[in-house]
Amino acid sequence: MSVQTEQSRITVTRLQEMRRSRTPIACLTAYDAVFGRLVDEAGMDVVLVGDSLGMVVQGHETTVPVTLEQMIYHTSLVARGCRRALLMADMPFMSYTDPSQALANAARLMQEGGAQMVKLEGDGGQVQVVSALARHGIPVCAHLGLRPQSIHKLGGYRVQGRGAHAGERMMRDAVALQDAGADILLLECVPAVLAAEIRGIVDIPVIGIGAGSDCDGQILVLHDVLGLTAKPPRFARNFLQGSDDIPAALAAYVSAVRERRFPGPEHTFQN
Ligand code: KIV
Repeated sequence: MSVQTEQSRITVTRLQEMRRSRTPIACLTAYDAVFGRLVDEAGMDVVLVGDSLGMVVQGHETTVPVTLEQMIYHTSLVARGCRRALLMADMPFMSYTDPSQALANAARLMQEGGAQMVKLEGDGGQVQVVSALARHGIPVCAHLGLRPQSIHKLGGYRVQGRGAHAGERMMRDAVALQDAGADILLLECVPAVLAAEIRGIVDIPVIGIGAGSDCDGQILVLHDVLGLTAKPPRFARNFLQGSDDIPAALAAYVSAVRERRFPGPEHTFQN
């Protein structure tokens, strides 16, 4: 029998409870064991091994070159440091083009990498993939809004969902992905009003990055939080500024999210 303690692993159920009790969920990326441990010890609820590693670790211009093998490798490193947070791993570009490919690759991220949830970028077109993963007991985060894997199609890192038509479409996609079995939604670079509307029409936790303060939780890229990015996005904040060291900066980020002091209006997009 397991005893529930503060140190127990964060689960999908716990994230649901946090949504219900309106306790903001703090999430951050990590790419190796030492930061897996530091981010976990800071009290993060979710640690994402993001394919942003293509940009912040490998030095590519986009996330497109990142491979499944690289995602499995970095996930396994973070898994060795991360004890309490739910460990989520990105499915990289072209690794989930149909349900059977997605199932095989998600299984590798979980079995070889140690991930407890996979994240995929998708609109309503990913409903079948999400549904197959959910039916096989694989927790899924559906990433909507700015989808960096589609950057060559989108033509730039811009706010998504502006205008009535685009906003309504994103709302429909959010509901369809939830109904297909997604456990959480991640909204990137979306006007705050639209993010709040989406949160209002789904029952699952909504995590935002550049999506305003009405989401159930917030996520940022580790390198932005530590001021290591040459041109940080507008929605990010350097928490090392004003902190004595890296653990203090990570703890400051967790507190700012929990107390809804981050994001502020300066990190938020309007319609
Ligand atoms: O890859 C990543 O780090 C992400 C975050 C931007 C949410 O998807």
